[in-house]
Amino acid sequence: MKEIIHEMYSEQQIERRICELASQIDRDYEGKRIHLICILRGSVFFFTELAKKITLPVTIDFMSASSYGDGTESSGTLKIKKDLDDDIEGKDVLIVEDIIDSGNTLYELRKLLMERKAASLKICTLLDKPDRREVEVPIDYTGFVVPNEFVVGYGLDYAQKYRNLPFVGRLEMVED
Ligand code: IMP
Ligand code: MG
Repeated sequence: MKEIIHEMYSEQQIERRICELASQIDRDYEGKRIHLICILRGSVFFFTELAKKITLPVTIDFMSASSYGDGTESSGTLKIKKDLDDDIEGKDVLIVEDIIDSGNTLYELRKLLMERKAASLKICTLLDKPDRREVEVPIDYTGFVVPNEFVVGYGLDYAQKYRNLPFVGRLEMVED
């Protein structure tokens, strides 16, 4: 099989959209400090660009988690591979994710973080793939809504490849 990538959003388009999201976040959080949480590894490129464009004071932390929602285990299982370093109690937390697909990961993660008594908890995602949703997750900020296709680049991978592509593209598998 050969892997072909078709560009969907250029680096320029993505960065323009990130600027818009950052302005909206600046307005919504006026007078506050935002605690940005990067969900590793996919959101790291989006996260750093977004953080640089926000003009309010921010603090950052990192977390890595994955959910099993494929029938072998209940969708309510969340595996934390790396937990946050700092407490979030009393903080205005903004979770930054690469893509929301079934919604299982964010649904569970949000539940877990809500138990830790953040002052507020919002979600910002670069991409939203609503056609595949299995559970509802409230998304506060979305970069782009994508069709039901497998996408890579700008942090997103296929078998750990393509994360460093500066654009987002659709992955096509063709017989060679
Ligand atoms: P969810 O729990 O199904 O919403 O899973 C979301 C996670 O699956 C994302 O954080 C990605 O790591 C991965 N994922 C879902 N769709 C794609 C895709 O199209 N390309 C790359 N990774 C994806
Ligand atoms: Mg992810």
